[in-house]
Amino acid sequence: MGQQKTPLANDIAQVLITEEQIVTRVMELGEQISQDYEGKALVLVGILKGAAIFLSDLVRQITIPVDYDFVAISSYGADTRTSGVVRLLKDLDSSIESKHVLVVEDIVDTGWTLRLSYIVENFRSRKAASVRVCTLLDKPSERKVDVGIDYYGFIVEDRYVVGYGLDYDGRYRSLPFIGVLKPEVYGGG
Ligand code: IMP
Ligand code: MG
Repeated sequence: MGQQKTPLANDIAQVLITEEQIVTRVMELGEQISQDYEGKALVLVGILKGAAIFLSDLVRQITIPVDYDFVAISSYGADTRTSGVVRLLKDLDSSIESKHVLVVEDIVDTGWTLRLSYIVENFRSRKAASVRVCTLLDKPSERKVDVGIDYYGFIVEDRYVVGYGLDYDGRYRSLPFIGVLKPEVYGGG
């Protein structure tokens, strides 16, 4: 499998994580999760939209019975940071009572999304048997609030990354690798 040859890929300055690296790492995470949740009712809950691609690959590397669902959370702005409110735009379709929930996120950057959404606390209050977090990317240098991460795919430096579900202005999610954009892309609006 080579890198995707689309015009979108022309906007990439540098590939940070290749498609092959992602495939290998997702396989490892799937194995680890399958061992850790052996004999337990597991449900992956992806945070839309960024985590959809990671979740769909991850779930196929999990060898124990597993279900999945999605939630959507409004993104915060400067004002929501002070108000401390992030809205749940789309809730779970099914009950998670007595299920083991693994929240799947694309990237944990400042941590505000997970913190302000109270998603972990919310799921615990619905009597989930356990709630843990799995993020594809962890950007610890940018962390502003502490969030517990139980599984991560890769650590990334303090750079804005796109691809494999991560977007810039609604674009680049479909790229099969993680990369950084050419500086001129940001200038072009
Ligand atoms: P946080 O609330 O700062 O932890 O950021 C989490 C959300 O911000 C992620 O789910 C992404 O949607 C977005 N985000 C943060 N950093 C990046 C990045 O480098 N590329 C693309 N999206 C990002
Ligand atoms: Mg996101």
